[in-house]
Amino acid sequence: MLFREAFSFDGNAPLGLCPLVSKSSYDPRDRFFLKAKKEGLRARSAYKLDEIQRRFRLLRPGGTVLDLGAAPGGWCQIAAREVGPRGFVLGLDLEVIPPLPPPTQTWVADAFSPELLTRLRSDGHAPYDAVLSDLAPRTSGIRSADEARSVALAERALGLALQVLKPAGAFVVKVFMGGDFEAFVKLCKQAFAETKIVKPEASVARGSKEVYLVCRTIRHPQSFEVGDLSDEIEQQG
Ligand SMILES: C[S@@+](CC[C@H](N)C(=O)[O-])C[C@H]1O[C@@H](n2cnc3c(N)ncnc32)[C@H](O)[C@@H]1O
Repeated sequence: MLFREAFSFDGNAPLGLCPLVSKSSYDPRDRFFLKAKKEGLRARSAYKLDEIQRRFRLLRPGGTVLDLGAAPGGWCQIAAREVGPRGFVLGLDLEVIPPLPPPTQTWVADAFSPELLTRLRSDGHAPYDAVLSDLAPRTSGIRSADEARSVALAERALGLALQVLKPAGAFVVKVFMGGDFEAFVKLCKQAFAETKIVKPEASVARGSKEVYLVCRTIRHPQSFEVGDLSDEIEQQG
C-alpha cells in the first residue's frame, strides 16, 4: 500500500486507546501522568521531550522551535522553558491548544495543509532551529494500517522540517516501530548527518512501540522537496 493511500484522516474517528500500545502495561495514570499534574505540565508526554533535551541539548536559549501535533501543549511548555523569553515556540495542532504564555504561540492548523508552508515562511520566524513532531495518527484498530499511518505522518513531518529548518537545525520525530520504520530511518540518515533512535523512559513505561528519531544537521539543504521523500520511501519500502 502506498503511504498516500494509507494516510487519510477521518475527522470523526474517535482517538480512543491507541492499539499500538500494549493494553496489559498501559496505565494512563502512571507516575509520569501524576508527575505532570504535580508540576503543571499539560501532558505526560512532556517528559519524553524533557529526556531527549537532557540527553542531546537540542534546544538552546533564544532558539526557535516549531512543534507539530502540539496539543494539549506539554512539549511546548518544555520547549519554552529551554528557549526562554528571547526564544520562540510555535505549536500547531488540528485541535485547539489552550493559550500558553510567551514565547509560545499556537495555531490551529493541519501540519500538512498546502498553505502551511507559505504561512510559516511569511510569519517571520522561519527558518527554525528545531522542528519537533509528536504527531500521532487517529487509529483504526488495524495494527498494520496504524503503523503505516504513523510512518506516513513521520515522513510528512520530515518533508516539512526540511523546508523550514536551518541547515544546522534539529529534527525530533515520533514513529512507531513496524511497517516501513526501517525505510524511514534510512531516509532520515540520508537527510541528516546524525540520526539517533531514542526510546524515552516515558515511552517505555507506556509499553508502546513508539520511538523518537533525533536528527541533526541537514546534509544537503537544497536537495529535498516535499513529495520527493514519499517517492523515495515508497521505492525503498
Ligand atoms: C500525542 S499528541 C501530542 C502531545 C503533545 N506533544 C503534548 O506534549 O502535549 C498528538 C497530536 O497530533 C495531532 N495531529 C495529528 N495529525 C495532525 C495534523 N495533520 N496536523 C496537526 N496536528 C495533528 C493530534 O491532534 C494530537 O493532538
